[in-house]
Amino acid sequence: MVEAMQIPVQQIKESKLGQVDFSNLGFGKYFSDHMLEADWENGVWKNVNIRPYQELGFLPALSVLHYSQTIFEGQKAHKDENGNIHIFRPHENWKRMNRSAARMAMPEVPEEIFIDGMKQLIELDKGFIPSGYDESLYIRPFLFATEETLGVKESSSYKFLILTGPVGSYFSAPARIYVEEKFTRAAPGGTGAAKTGGNYAASLLSSAEAKKQGYDQVLWMDALEHKYVQEVGAMNIMFIIGDTIITPDLTDGTILNGITRMSLLDIFKDKGYKVEERRISIDELVAAYEAGQLKEVFGCGTAATISHVKELKYKDLVMEFDVDTMKISADMKKFLLDYKENLHGDPYGWLERV
Ligand SMILES: Cc1ncc(COP(=O)(O)O)c(C=O)c1O
Repeated sequence: MVEAMQIPVQQIKESKLGQVDFSNLGFGKYFSDHMLEADWENGVWKNVNIRPYQELGFLPALSVLHYSQTIFEGQKAHKDENGNIHIFRPHENWKRMNRSAARMAMPEVPEEIFIDGMKQLIELDKGFIPSGYDESLYIRPFLFATEETLGVKESSSYKFLILTGPVGSYFSAPARIYVEEKFTRAAPGGTGAAKTGGNYAASLLSSAEAKKQGYDQVLWMDALEHKYVQEVGAMNIMFIIGDTIITPDLTDGTILNGITRMSLLDIFKDKGYKVEERRISIDELVAAYEAGQLKEVFGCGTAATISHVKELKYKDLVMEFDVDTMKISADMKKFLLDYKENLHGDPYGWLERV
């Protein structure tokens, strides 16, 4: 275990900051000057350092390339009006990373490396943090197996890295999604609740097919009965039926425990809304739609905060929604975005100062 520490830094010779077009940031296009790196071998974390973002040298037998023992996180830091930098709920990402690690037979990443290292890295590259509303520094911690072997077993060594890069305001046009009836994302006992690369790899065929058909995403159903709603792409899903906010529960271990999801549930409850975490069948949604009771449908995740759904297709039924009337989720989106920009004074204690 590494104690709270000052991590050694190898500074970049010439910053790439001048190459960033801050008027057109997009997502995942730019990387900050430095990355954090740490290695785990035989039970010990070592080689914790910060160095310029650069290539890593590996041999083709690197086990992650064959058996996908890899996990990651995705989170954001914002610069407020006074230039102060805050990361949104980083300890939740750290805890989730370690839950993913446990499921994937990987070592836990110590808080000193994940949290303190992240803060030191962000401080060093703070020039890359955009200051516009909803613009942020995206943070990508990840851990992967580095043993060079073709044996199918948990690796004896791992590498942990944190990359960061500026990302723009994420305008998400109201989404068109359909219920995926053939493929599934996760089964009970599987890895659905872990943020591991294979879950995403396995979803790409469905998203490519959705795009081909002019849709943005698919709505995953449970793997056993194809009856209960799970989540969407890189977002959890919420519905407002009548006056109740409903989202699939996490008990099967098939859904990612989203940090946006948990934050929204807390705020909704705090504001006095009726909230239910439970199984929701597609039949219940169709019935609510036909009765005029399905008022709002939205995805929630770090990238877009809230992304409204304007069309949900199930078999031959196309359920259409007027996004302009989705007032509760629109207000909540603004509240949470403002919150991350430190415009509310952090009543829930979710902003961690860098
Ligand atoms: C599969 C999946 N579900 C849900 C989410 C939303 O989680 P969060 O709110 O922590 O970004 C994500 C994004 O990380 C995801 O990849």
